[in-house]
Amino acid sequence: MDSDRVVPLIITAPKGRYVGYTKNQRPDPDPEFMRVGPGKPCGEYLRRFWQPVCMTEELAKGVPVRLRILGEDLVAFRDGSGNYGLLHLHCSHRNTSLEFGFIADRGIRCCYHGWHYDVDGTILETPGEPAGSKIREKVCHGAYPVIEWHGLLFAYLGPAAVAPPFPLFDTIAGLPGTELVPYKIVYPCNWLQVCENTMDPVHTVFLHSRLNRFQFEAAWQVMPQLEFHETPARVYATLTYRWKDMLWVRTQETTYPSFSQVGAFWEDAEEEKYFRRASITKWTVAIDDTHCMIIAFRSFGPAIDPHQRGKRELVGLQSVDFDGQTELRPYDVMQRDPSDYEAQVSIGPMATHGAENLGSTDRGVAILRRNIRTGIKAVENGGEPPRLPLAGGEVNTYVQDTVMPFRPRPPDEDEKLMKALTGAVMDVVRRGDELAGAARREFIERALRDLKRDPRFSAG
Ligand code: FES
Ligand SMILES: [Fe+2]
Repeated sequence: MDSDRVVPLIITAPKGRYVGYTKNQRPDPDPEFMRVGPGKPCGEYLRRFWQPVCMTEELAKGVPVRLRILGEDLVAFRDGSGNYGLLHLHCSHRNTSLEFGFIADRGIRCCYHGWHYDVDGTILETPGEPAGSKIREKVCHGAYPVIEWHGLLFAYLGPAAVAPPFPLFDTIAGLPGTELVPYKIVYPCNWLQVCENTMDPVHTVFLHSRLNRFQFEAAWQVMPQLEFHETPARVYATLTYRWKDMLWVRTQETTYPSFSQVGAFWEDAEEEKYFRRASITKWTVAIDDTHCMIIAFRSFGPAIDPHQRGKRELVGLQSVDFDGQTELRPYDVMQRDPSDYEAQVSIGPMATHGAENLGSTDRGVAILRRNIRTGIKAVENGGEPPRLPLAGGEVNTYVQDTVMPFRPRPPDEDEKLMKALTGAVMDVVRRGDELAGAARREFIERALRDLKRDPRFSAG
């Protein structure tokens, strides 16, 4: 009977573009950027720069600390004379790890047979060898030069013959009214995708504002007028926001390969201010191909944070005073309130550039990659990467926030005003390059204040 007939039920696939299958083979990560070990092009390039390797606080317990930097296993310590050392991890005798060594008044002594190393790798003693043994003169242990600065230990891991001077950036040279507090955070992913964040300022509009609670301030939800500027050694972005009766011109920068600075993350653009400097001064340091660290200074004090919005007690090892920068949050909180850590680490252990689709707002990222690639090639060809000049002993940097009162005009006119003002602000900052230190700061602040009365903008 008809009523007993079983009608086959065919459930067809939903209609739509569904290109999952055609795109399910991801290209490989680009080895030129991702491989950072000894002898690899990117690793050799990164070794041409002074970089922080740890916080000195980590070395204060009287025992050596095992580190991995640029794919190389190392040991760091502070000896009894107060000198810092950064040596190859494995003893030159029979390779016992010096993380189990005994720190001496001078240098470190291996625990196995007592070979004794100075901080520059000189072997001071081989106590088990007969008197007259020449082995300690024939062998020199691997060591790298280090410099301590405000609680961070910096190292140069490149060829000694071409070691550059330590780049004393103006923001770490000792700005009045500013205290540098070090911190370090480890990321389980390649260094480049973390480093790129500063040249991706549009993420703040979405990740930190519109798609989420306001992780910073309300003004950050505004899409800024965005420009990128590049020189052989640096890329910097200007972000100009219209916020109520104020125009806020923010400059953030990355000096290649990975030295980046941003202004106050609590900036609300409600008050007039001129050339306020970095709240975060950071280096993204490659541990190996799939791990990196941000080692950085948070700046505190009246010059950067007059209303004391920072929380100094939260800044240190694996901790900084704004949310979403570490793995130390419950997974459900990470999902409901994602921030920089989730966005960057979830890209994967090594970013696959061939699977990306860069848009116009990624121009800063593209510039950064192109110049880093140029630097890698320069080192590969036997040259040196470009560096920023030292002016009066310091390297002038551009990071700044300027907020000025200009009442809104019709949209087209306002856009033009913002563009012209941004150009004028950066012209002043760049003209300051002829000066250094206090003279530069005074010149820039005075010239920026003068822009308020400049006839080019006074119609507002
Ligand atoms: S292995 Fe270090 S002294 Fe022998
Ligand atoms: Fe961010």
